[in-house]
Amino acid sequence: MSATAELKSSGLEGVSAGKSAVCCVDQGTLLYRGYEIADLAKNATFEEVAYLLLVGEKPNATQLANFKKSLLAHREIPDDVVDILRQTATQPNAHPMDVLRTCISYMAHFDPDCQSIDPEAELRKSTRLTAQIPTIIGHMQNIIDGRDIVKPDPSLDHAANLLYMMTGRKPSAEEARIIDVSLILYAEHDFNASTFTGRVIAGTLSDLHGAVAGAVAALKGPLHGGANEAAMEMLKEIDQFIAKGGTVDDFMTRAFAEKRKLMGFGHRVYKNGDHRAGILNALGRAYAEKKGPDAVKWFDIGDKVQKIMLDQKNIFPNVDFPCGMTYFTLGIPVPQYTPIFVAARITGWAAHIMEQHQNNRLIRPLAEYTGPAQRKWNA
Ligand SMILES: CC(C)(COP(=O)(O)OP(=O)(O)OC[C@H]1O[C@@H](n2cnc3c(N)ncnc32)[C@H](O)[C@@H]1OP(=O)(O)O)[C@@H](O)C(=O)NCCC(=O)NCCS
Repeated sequence: MSATAELKSSGLEGVSAGKSAVCCVDQGTLLYRGYEIADLAKNATFEEVAYLLLVGEKPNATQLANFKKSLLAHREIPDDVVDILRQTATQPNAHPMDVLRTCISYMAHFDPDCQSIDPEAELRKSTRLTAQIPTIIGHMQNIIDGRDIVKPDPSLDHAANLLYMMTGRKPSAEEARIIDVSLILYAEHDFNASTFTGRVIAGTLSDLHGAVAGAVAALKGPLHGGANEAAMEMLKEIDQFIAKGGTVDDFMTRAFAEKRKLMGFGHRVYKNGDHRAGILNALGRAYAEKKGPDAVKWFDIGDKVQKIMLDQKNIFPNVDFPCGMTYFTLGIPVPQYTPIFVAARITGWAAHIMEQHQNNRLIRPLAEYTGPAQRKWNA
């Protein structure tokens, strides 16, 4: 493709922006370092997938035990960060993603490896951030709920501990596994907007915490990670519409007439469906069926929305659509859905930031100028 043709691609659609060995995203498959996503969701744990992404290979038993030990050792966050959480989490304009971004940025100052881009130092920082982010999310939710802070529980695995710290309630094995699988599904997705943001920052030889803070800001938007929250808010809106006598069909007819973007649908790369969506939808629905009709209701509405989108627009749901319904059924507050996405994607971001640093060239594309022709200030 010529340079001119590339510039004409709006939103860089279809443009290859570099090489990566971390992940393969295409219509047919989604691979993390060669392993297919359904295989990982069925047979791996989040800790194993995190190691795979960060180190590059599946861990053996000793490597996994050491990695889990290291995650456990770094779950606590500095008291100063808890103070920042107390100052920010209940501010009326503070979305949890903003609070999380501030805390990640602030934690850089306490990290002994902060300024280093040495591979060993970056692996240590990535492991620490992977361990600490669930604690930030958990403590933040405790503060929002006006509850005492729930300390990490070393007897719980990564996903179960995240849910426990947020709620103060130990999750069932099924609940822990659903969160674990959602973290696996969210862990990595090649040059998506937030990962690319992180790589652009890393490409200036800036540090990992800074690159991750930038990636968090990119993920927050509803066209990217924020879609899981927006999808659930849309389902709640449909539920209220039904309560007032409307139907899902009526809602969708109006949405199409208004040319509204339906959250949790569509994807820049996947045009025939997102490999992750069906996996999470099946887990979420099975769990909802055990909880009863009030929980199943969301999946029934969701099925109708999906059918109408497919029949009338040929647009498939992405992973954020079932995520919204699943996290809602688990009782997770909606504004924490995208922060939980961060708790997973930190591993993919870190893998890309390390890959960028280890084979770096500044990322600096061209802009096609559309402004006025040259003119004189004192004409
Ligand atoms: C993900 C997304 C940003 C991809 O955008 P994109 O690659 O630029 O796709 P486009 O906006 O060019 O979409 C192509 C067509 O499908 C339509 N479309 C895409 N997603 C849609 C959606 N969620 N609802 C309604 N229409 C949608 C567009 O309006 C466009 O129609 P047109 O050709 O008649 O103008 C987009 O699908 C979207 O906004 N989805 C909702 C947010 C979301 O779920 N994000 C999470 C992504 S994992």
